[in-house]
Amino acid sequence: MKSRPVEAKAFAPASVANVGVGFDILGFSAAITGDTARVERISEKTVIVGDITGQIQNLPTDPLANTATAGLVRLIEEKKLKHGFRVSIEKGIPMGSGLGGSAASAVAAIVAASELLETPLTKSEMLSYALIGEHVASGSYHADNVAPSLYGGFTLATLQTSLDQTALPKAHVSELPIPDGLWCVLLHPHLEVATKMARGILKNEISLKTHIEASAHLATFMVALFNSDFDLLRRSLKDIVIEPQRAHLIQGFYAVQKAALDAGAFGCTISGAGPTMFALTDGQHQALQIQNQMEKATVTPSTSWSFQIKHDGARVLS
Ligand code: HSE
Repeated sequence: MKSRPVEAKAFAPASVANVGVGFDILGFSAAITGDTARVERISEKTVIVGDITGQIQNLPTDPLANTATAGLVRLIEEKKLKHGFRVSIEKGIPMGSGLGGSAASAVAAIVAASELLETPLTKSEMLSYALIGEHVASGSYHADNVAPSLYGGFTLATLQTSLDQTALPKAHVSELPIPDGLWCVLLHPHLEVATKMARGILKNEISLKTHIEASAHLATFMVALFNSDFDLLRRSLKDIVIEPQRAHLIQGFYAVQKAALDAGAFGCTISGAGPTMFALTDGQHQALQIQNQMEKATVTPSTSWSFQIKHDGARVLS
């Protein structure tokens, strides 16, 4: 049998969840930044939170309360492993930024841990364990950050419901096409929005009229991706459900959105639970113009990026 390494390192990219039209199910990877996990095999059947460096350093040291390690605790139980893990995390993604930081830590840790197993995990298994980490951060299972961070590119990830509450969470992931030349602009105001709070303020119900309109936006957005139809993408990229309920959490949101749309963006709305905002467009030139206008319009010190959306998911570094 091939001997497995005793230590592995993996990188998982940031991601943009919801994408305006697919709350809790749609997302794409944003490899402009990400989290790195170094996982070592240890003889005790436990998980130890090691060094935490980078953008955040005060993360929980209780492995069940840390998004990177909660899934690994479950992995030891499920696979009846005879060893444990020590996990060090380098956070590239700021806390509460709306860039999928908790998902990226969970994905990086499970991808690295899988390298140490006699039988490495399938991607679908990795997703399940990463979902456990995401649950720690947001209080619910949703794979719209975990799936694009793991698979890369655009993903549609739907949870598989199980009557057995103790079963591992599972999601079905569809990898979606990325139209050639599709660019994203991100503006990250230096504020922190706690995902649990941003979920807690959402209404539980929407009207039938809103449901029909929102379904139409999601469906036509999908068709636009499959057909590389940028006109349709422009018509469909509208969030009529979540954005109106969360915009007040982001100071100056509507001014930045207007600046992006005036500069030609297909659409501009909240990335994940915010406060980061994203805009989509075609080509680098347009993206840089939109980025410039969004920066000018924001009232909050911010960081911004422009990048082409690519199939660039999590990867083992060593
Ligand atoms: N879909 C999630 C939300 C992403 O918007 O609350 C953040 O975890």
